[in-house]
Amino acid sequence: MDEKGLSEEEILAELSFFSESDTNFRKVLSSMCTVPHPIAVMAYHQFIHSNIGDPGLFQGTAEMERKVIEATADFLNHSDSATAVGHLTSGGTESNIEAVFHMKNRFMAFQNQDDQDDSKSSKFSESNKMNLILPKTAHFSFKKVANLLDVELRKADIDSQSRVIPKSAASLIDENTIGLIGIAGNTEFGACDPIEELSEIALKHQLPLHIDAAFGGFVYPFLDSSRACSGAKFGFDLQGVTSVSIDPHKMGLSVIPAGILVFRDESFLDLSLDKIKVKTPYLTSKYQSTLTGTRPGAAVAAAYAVMKHLGKDGYRKNVAYCMDLTDYFQTELEKIGLKPYSEPQINIVTVDIAAGLNKEAAREKTEKIRSQLFEKYGWNVSAAKTIPVLRFVLMPHVTKEDAFGVISDLKKLLDDETSSSSS
Ligand SMILES: Cc1ncc(COP(=O)(O)O)c(C=O)c1O
Repeated sequence: MDEKGLSEEEILAELSFFSESDTNFRKVLSSMCTVPHPIAVMAYHQFIHSNIGDPGLFQGTAEMERKVIEATADFLNHSDSATAVGHLTSGGTESNIEAVFHMKNRFMAFQNQDDQDDSKSSKFSESNKMNLILPKTAHFSFKKVANLLDVELRKADIDSQSRVIPKSAASLIDENTIGLIGIAGNTEFGACDPIEELSEIALKHQLPLHIDAAFGGFVYPFLDSSRACSGAKFGFDLQGVTSVSIDPHKMGLSVIPAGILVFRDESFLDLSLDKIKVKTPYLTSKYQSTLTGTRPGAAVAAAYAVMKHLGKDGYRKNVAYCMDLTDYFQTELEKIGLKPYSEPQINIVTVDIAAGLNKEAAREKTEKIRSQLFEKYGWNVSAAKTIPVLRFVLMPHVTKEDAFGVISDLKKLLDDETSSSSS
């Protein structure tokens, strides 16, 4: 650190310099985040000093957090949203870590009960690790979950629409399974797993089912009823669903960092053996059961403000914009002889530009075109990992002109590629 500080003007000039190297989201079709809604930004500024980790000092923020959880449980079809529990997190990763942490606590609590009851023999196999069943399409945050919590990830197969095959998930369950994961809007394709069937499996095996709706949670419930996937179910009306993660900082249009983690009710948290819950001697609360300590109340205020301001109607309009753009994108793709790898269920389109090539060659070509789109034309686009396809996320900041522009530039690159390979 410098001995003497800089003036306010000097600092602002430096900040401008640094911000010039950051994106303003123009030409970004790779990110699941977007420009936040102005009301979220205003609320964030107003509550900039608030620490929701010490809720007695910030009772207003605590009240807003409670209302955000209740509103979320409500639009996720909870029959009694006042009994849902949860809190805001920094995003999907933290929510997934916490949800699985609770699964592990619950599993160990049951083991403990069985060990104390001499009439019951423990079903847990000491020789094997605890395991979690999840779709092959699960977000990479689950790798962190596995590493942090020492849990084996068992990946269930997916169908041609990139949805998990419930039978495959069920076949992976054994006595060391701590729970199941379903995804509403997977990262690569946007597909929603058949959560109704996963819910039945969870109930049959008495296992918790956590839904990762980090992206799709603010999309699926707001799809126009004419859309094929508008009725996709993933909420608390499915009795097997025990928790849901959903991110305001993605399609919720709030400020980063903001994830919401909602549990069906307090009983699921199994507080007697909760390994997150600790006493908090010098705070205004008696206990803290969140992974992080000091937490940004400003993020709570921003999520509260934008959800209240938009309402369901506002989110429907937002999703309608993105879906119209997705339709337009597909039409323009078809004009250049390309089509989506699978029918887009929401505002993510994947495109196979290397049909007929073997997997390795397809991966190479996809990566080459992806990087040229950036280097020659400034477009940020990503490639899927599961299969070699280009991936475009049609977020609210993307315009029709951008959608047209990226496809025109893609055509130029593909034409160049064809002419250089034929010469
Ligand atoms: C389905 C899904 N889950 C979890 C995450 C992780 O979210 P975050 O980056 O906010 O931690 C993502 C991120 O894109 C995601 O798409």
